Amino acid sequence: MVSLSFVPVIHEAGGIAILVPGVCERTPPEGIGTAVVRTRHTTVRDARIPPICPKADLWFAHRTASLPDMGNPLVARMRGFGTTIFAEMSELARSTGAINLGQGFPDTDGPREMLDAAIDAINSGRNQYPPGAGFPELLDAIAEHQRRFYGLSVDPAREVLVTAGATEAIAAVILGLCEPGDEVVTFEPYYDCYAATIALAGGVRRTSMLRFPDFAVDEVSLRAAFSSRTRLVLLNTPHNPTGKVFSRAELDLICSLAREHDAWVVTDEVYEHLVFDGAAHIPVATLPDMADRTITISSGGKTFSATGWKVGWLHGPPDAVAAARTVKQFLTFVASGPFQPAVALALGLDDKIYRGLASSLQAKRDLLCEGLSTAGLAVARPAATYFVIADAAPLGASDAVDFCRQMPARCGVVGVPVSAFCDDKDAARTLVRFAFCKRDAVLNEAVVRLSALTAS
Ligand SMILES: Cc1ncc(COP(=O)(O)O)c(C=O)c1O
Repeated sequence: MVSLSFVPVIHEAGGIAILVPGVCERTPPEGIGTAVVRTRHTTVRDARIPPICPKADLWFAHRTASLPDMGNPLVARMRGFGTTIFAEMSELARSTGAINLGQGFPDTDGPREMLDAAIDAINSGRNQYPPGAGFPELLDAIAEHQRRFYGLSVDPAREVLVTAGATEAIAAVILGLCEPGDEVVTFEPYYDCYAATIALAGGVRRTSMLRFPDFAVDEVSLRAAFSSRTRLVLLNTPHNPTGKVFSRAELDLICSLAREHDAWVVTDEVYEHLVFDGAAHIPVATLPDMADRTITISSGGKTFSATGWKVGWLHGPPDAVAAARTVKQFLTFVASGPFQPAVALALGLDDKIYRGLASSLQAKRDLLCEGLSTAGLAVARPAATYFVIADAAPLGASDAVDFCRQMPARCGVVGVPVSAFCDDKDAARTLVRFAFCKRDAVLNEAVVRLSALTAS
């Protein structure tokens, strides 16, 4: 007999079931046999447990001998990166019918020509592995894009690598450049995969906080984050989740610290074209003496509203690209075959297509910011990206996690607490991130619903 409450249990099909409190205190019926019951910290062997459900497929009885005690199989450096608040909030939106402004993907498609190019690629048989570095036409298009928009000269053959989204580019660079114990300087709040990827590489995260409402770089804490162990700076401009575009002065400071510490700058610029009100995105690779130590990352998914295609890339000095390529070939090897020529075509589209995507998003930003302000939140109007951060404190909130959990019931909208992107949870205690990359009808409805917050 065991006395456990709320424990995950391995059932016969190999999945996990949850025991409700008290169930395991009953005597199991004859013939069920022994079970292995895992709590978070211990494994209890030979426990005789009754099934939690009469259905046969949920019977979890096991012969002890057939299931050795493996403990927690997850490597220590990845513990703490379990189910995220994003999954919880999306599930909450699904189960309550709330409008999900927690997740950052558009609900409309990108340019028609690009979609047709993908269909043509599939129909013309481009469905097998593309070359390891990416299809030459996409490598050329990325190099040409960097020349056209930023005046950068990039060799498509040696200085570009196509990846499975920007996510794989980030992983390949960090795993390729960092030894265990190397330090990575980044800003908080950070895009959530940064922390996990640094941990996966055995690196040490050193952060500087960008504080609401202007999210300006704090020079003192940034300087303090650098040390003799700094291997690279992981920068994100325009920045998720704040919507900040780093200024020239801020970039100059970051670059001078990187040069002083002989560090790489890995710059995630996936929102490079989603910039509003004429703000200028400055690619780090264009700054003086930086091209030789900068790896630039971007993604067709964000620019062209095709996040599911996972066509990303990086470019930089040939040695750094080769290091990332070495790792990348053992992550996915290649991905997104027929979508690569389509993104190549999209990169070459007219300026007005780029401007149209940004101005449509700017109008959506205005719509949601207005709605959030009217509902009583304090809004930090973003200069770029898909996201706006708002402070729920004026509505009496003291904890954004609780506030977000209550939002479906209070107003039928879901956001995500910014503390999920921070090491220092207190710095973002009452902040919520909302995505505005949604259809106008969805945003209009969200704005109507948000007004219930002032009433409740
Ligand atoms: C800052 C940032 N970098 C990278 C990514 C991932 O891009 P991809 O979908 O191309 O992997 C995201 C997605 O939300 C992001 O916000």
